[in-house]
Amino acid sequence: MAYDVARIRSEFPSLESGWAHFDGPGGTQAPRAVGDAVASVLTGPLSNRGTIGMSEERAEAAVHGFRLAMADLVNGHPRGIVHGRSATQLTYDFSRLLTREWGPGDEIVVTRLDHDANVRPWVQSAARAGATVRWVDFDPETGELATDAVSAALSDRTRLVAVTAASNLIGTMPDIPAIAAAVHEAGALLYVDGVHYTAHELPDVAALGADFFTCSPYKFLGPHCGVLAARPELLETLMPDKLLPATNIVPERFEFGTLPYELLAGVTAAVDVLSGLDPDAADAAESRRDRLAASYAALHAHEDALRTRLEEGLAGLQGVTLWSRAARRTPTLLATFAGHAASDLTHALAAGRVLAPSGNFYALEASRHLGLGDAGGLRMGLAPYTDAADVGRLLDGLAAALAG
Ligand SMILES: Cc1ncc(COP(=O)(O)O)c(C=O)c1O
Repeated sequence: MAYDVARIRSEFPSLESGWAHFDGPGGTQAPRAVGDAVASVLTGPLSNRGTIGMSEERAEAAVHGFRLAMADLVNGHPRGIVHGRSATQLTYDFSRLLTREWGPGDEIVVTRLDHDANVRPWVQSAARAGATVRWVDFDPETGELATDAVSAALSDRTRLVAVTAASNLIGTMPDIPAIAAAVHEAGALLYVDGVHYTAHELPDVAALGADFFTCSPYKFLGPHCGVLAARPELLETLMPDKLLPATNIVPERFEFGTLPYELLAGVTAAVDVLSGLDPDAADAAESRRDRLAASYAALHAHEDALRTRLEEGLAGLQGVTLWSRAARRTPTLLATFAGHAASDLTHALAAGRVLAPSGNFYALEASRHLGLGDAGGLRMGLAPYTDAADVGRLLDGLAAALAG
């Protein structure tokens, strides 16, 4: 495998700042190609979508390219790709829509592992409908969300289960296909938060069994927006409130107002960069999906090696508790240190231009369930551009801060 991290880093102008970025789970740095794509669509001839002249065609092409790229990334259908301002906005929209006909007696299942973006919209919509919320806990000792725990919350009244494919706080990746089988057996829908997952794992919405799957391109080298993927036939069954002259077709009926063409082009560019992370495999692969598969495999190997190094280094630090423990997890590590507030360590690291933020990162229920309250811990996330020198600087910086 030819994962050339030096080459990859050279594609990120922001890394010239000298900062070591471990804040990828909050949002990654963006490569030059993404910025160029945004600028080129925005400052090239650009009008509303249409067929009259270059400017309309470029808007049309940006939308079309985005749907194809995201369909490749999630292994979905281009007509099932919905753009939104953020995953939070999309989940709020879809939670209101999906619960519209619910009433007392209907049930929804949410988890304490999830980011609040896949919890609160459901809790609030369920309350409005008079529906019952069932909570599923993860094991704070192991960080695991057991499939059995989800199954135990299901009944013939369950309408929907909202669960994360990967925790943005401790990296846990629940067994989504097994959960999907149980959810579908109960006759319910599965709404999967893939925001953190997609930064590290190549999604396959069909294999996951997700009826709805959200992700956010700014977590995987792209611009700030959100995407929801679903089967077009399922989207056809949902009718949001919309403007009278606006189209009724899917997926456009879920996208309100004029689309941000330049951001859509940036998303396409991000998917193309991801598909080229391993140029050797990429050259040999037939389709973009194949290239993505090869590149994610190379990314995995790279991130696994760095994660092992980071975990070994952290284990040797004074007073450390590492909360990322699940058998299947992303390279996102949450740690606390006896006698030191995580936020103090973040500031100490920043003095050496190492960015590792601290907090609960909106995984509020998870942070509280771990016993970390609202303060959370220090989160260190690996990204495609992280290298061994970054990891060394992080470990050295922590050792110095803990000694000081
Ligand atoms: C797991 C997870 N879900 C949802 C979100 C919210 O995403 P967005 O900012 O696109 O609303 C985040 C953002 O941090 C996240 O990490």
